Amino acid sequence: MIQGELFGDPTGAAGGEEASDSSASSGPSGSSGVLGRSEPAPGAVLLPGWLDLDAQLRLVAACREWARPPAGLHSVRMPTGGMMSVRMVSLGWHWYPYGYRRVAEDGAPVKPFPPELGRLARQAVAEAYGAALPQVAGAASYEPDVAIVNHYPHGAKMGLHQDRDERADAPVVSVSLGDRCVFRLGNTETRTRPWTDLELSSGDLLVFGGPARFAYHGVVRTLQGTADPELGLVGRLNITVRQSGMGA
Ligand code: SIN
Ligand code: MN
Repeated sequence: MIQGELFGDPTGAAGGEEASDSSASSGPSGSSGVLGRSEPAPGAVLLPGWLDLDAQLRLVAACREWARPPAGLHSVRMPTGGMMSVRMVSLGWHWYPYGYRRVAEDGAPVKPFPPELGRLARQAVAEAYGAALPQVAGAASYEPDVAIVNHYPHGAKMGLHQDRDERADAPVVSVSLGDRCVFRLGNTETRTRPWTDLELSSGDLLVFGGPARFAYHGVVRTLQGTADPELGLVGRLNITVRQSGMGA
């Protein structure tokens, strides 16, 4: 499989550098993330433009490496029989509907959780909540150990769901790359309104913890072709970092 095929990149323009252990270590763009901070629901914090283009490029390159087999990017069949339109790769623990295990879809051991993603996610939680950190469940002691990378090809979406396969109530950290999308942040009780639709762009950080941790959420649609061409990415990538609560 050539590298570009992993996310349907016809030019192969992105990911020229080999991802290494330090590939995702470049952090957010510093203070710029604070501009435009919003709290679309109590416990949910959006920091637009949190990652600069360099950091985004490094993460895209890392995702291409993580997507390689074995234990790479795969399609997911739901218990109802349908296939999800996103393809995903898990790190640390393999997510399946509905649980976590150490063995990936192809039977290979799941790839390790990259420490640099842990550092990035801890920084995300600290910046999102600031002085309120001690008041958010699991935030001050955040020890993420799982990441799920979702690739949305054109036309892909994700229905409203809760992230509740973790045995911990620590925040979920979400970083978006590539095409913009309409992200629906609902309530914790039902799949129905009230909800807030947010447009997520490449480099945006969304953290949902505290009272928003178990909010229904999903991706209504991606906005095809809206990614910065420099990313060389077709579609959208989303990385969520979580604390599984599964123990070692
Ligand atoms: C997810 O809910 O797991 C992914 C959300 C997103 O793609 O923004
Ligand atoms: Mn989710």
